[in-house]
Amino acid sequence: MEKTFVMLKSDGLKRGLLGEVISRIEKKGYKVLGLKIQRLTKEQLDKHYYEHLERPYFPSLVEYVTSGPVVHMVIGGDNVISGIRKLNGATDPEKAEMGSIRGDLAINMTKNLIHASDSLENAEREIALYFSPDEIVE
Ligand code: CDP
Ligand code: MG
Repeated sequence: MEKTFVMLKSDGLKRGLLGEVISRIEKKGYKVLGLKIQRLTKEQLDKHYYEHLERPYFPSLVEYVTSGPVVHMVIGGDNVISGIRKLNGATDPEKAEMGSIRGDLAINMTKNLIHASDSLENAEREIALYFSPDEIVE
């Protein structure tokens, strides 16, 4: 089964949106294969978002994601990597379609509520950053 990595960013738990987000993922037909709540350090985010280290928004992204606990998920299903990206909607919540998670539940480009891997390579890399194999069910 194809797997992807999803992170509910820090305002998700604060705003009580974990159930809503998991519900949308499950209703679509994807399976939750791994789940954990964690506070992230800047060092973890440097690895996670290594492609963005030099971007002007990186400091505010780090401040946002480290401002409270996040929820990590391994999600499985057919073509789940592109499917969850569609479910999430565009990076900028103002451009994200209504009906998508970001379109319905977020308004700020940095505070866009949710992350999902963008490729098979990044899905494998990001899952390995946060989960050991025995924390994922098949
Ligand atoms: O999360 P996604 O893959 O849709 O977007 P990205 O281009 O990989 O950017 C990673 C994250 O950086 C986004 O989800 C935003 O939280 C943040 N970002 C930002 O604050 N301002 C931008 N101009 C682009 C991204
Ligand atoms: Mg990305």
